[in-house]
Amino acid sequence: MNVETIEDLFGYQLQHAYYAERTQLELLEELAADCDGDLESSLREHREETRDHVDRLEGVFAALGRQPRASRSRAVDGFAEAHRNRGDGPNEVGGHGDGSAPSVLETALLAERFEVRTYETLVTLAGRLAYADDVVEPLEATLAEERETRRTLEERERVPSVADPSSPEEA
Ligand SMILES: [Fe+2]
Ligand SMILES: [Fe+2]
Repeated sequence: MNVETIEDLFGYQLQHAYYAERTQLELLEELAADCDGDLESSLREHREETRDHVDRLEGVFAALGRQPRASRSRAVDGFAEAHRNRGDGPNEVGGHGDGSAPSVLETALLAERFEVRTYETLVTLAGRLAYADDVVEPLEATLAEERETRRTLEERERVPSVADPSSPEEA
């Protein structure tokens, strides 16, 4: 699509967000299947929220009188691809120890940080365009959930679980 105006830019970001959310539905399922415990529950819970994210975006498209459309995002594809290509590591939470492949937690965090930035951009542009509540509110609601998920995952990154065999051990 031709991106010239702020409105175009919003539409472009919206299509990327739609692509990201639909990819997240698949990726969160795959990530959850590759871990266990609290991390698995968090990812499954967020996958349920992600269904709402897709619905909300469809509502935003409708409010703007548009058909929902997804624009492929290489950045989003990259997260899913890195996870799928990571091979069989020694554990599911902490990566391979050689720094070559992201762990489930790292991939999940990268995806959430990406979503937070995408929704921050959408909310900013929607404000600039003075869009009505039926556009702004769903975006803000999803942004709040993305931030909360990012916070939960960052907490987990800071305090590795006792059950996590990849936690650095004291020498
Ligand atoms: Fe989302
Ligand atoms: Fe998310």
